[in-house]
Amino acid sequence: MHNDVERILFSEEQIKEAVTSLGKRIAEDYKGRRPVFIGILKGSFIFMSDLVRAVGADSELDFMIAKSYGNAAVSSGTVNIIKDIDADISGRDVIVVEDILDTARTLAAVKVHLADKKAASVKICTLLDKVTAVKAADVKADYKCFDVGNEFVVGYGLDYAEKYRGLPYIGVLRREIYER
Ligand code: PRP
Repeated sequence: MHNDVERILFSEEQIKEAVTSLGKRIAEDYKGRRPVFIGILKGSFIFMSDLVRAVGADSELDFMIAKSYGNAAVSSGTVNIIKDIDADISGRDVIVVEDILDTARTLAAVKVHLADKKAASVKICTLLDKVTAVKAADVKADYKCFDVGNEFVVGYGLDYAEKYRGLPYIGVLRREIYER
């Protein structure tokens, strides 16, 4: 385990099992259709790559970057799309892939943006749902792997100051790392 990590919340094996079963469920739900998976960078990149392989071959994918600006510790109300998708999603079923649903501000903005592009449907798929967070918008996960509490989680794509994304597990970051 990395020295900066206090404890492992979800092991590599637990993640693999959860993502594989979620992928199968999505494949079943979308049988006969070809959804477009849209990953929200950067945090979703590892989850997205494992998820699309679990779903199978009949999917397309694209990526967006959405940033909320202001104080880094308390996210501001403004979300800007700083990288848009290339795919034409008009009339298509879209599944937005996120690493963590926290205040839901990012996904609320992304949902509005994708609805403007005339997607036939937009579902939310998140690796982690921070169930203790006060939601600023009424956005719920349609698919998720795990619930988390009010802890600083890193690994499997999630960062603190751009570090720890490459950890194969999801762990709780030691408090002294982000409070010093
Ligand atoms: C994080 C995370 C989500 C968003 C969730 O992104 O990846 O996109 O915050 O927070 P919200 O529900 O309160 O909007 P971040 O801006 O840290 O960028 P990153 O994915 O590049 O790490």
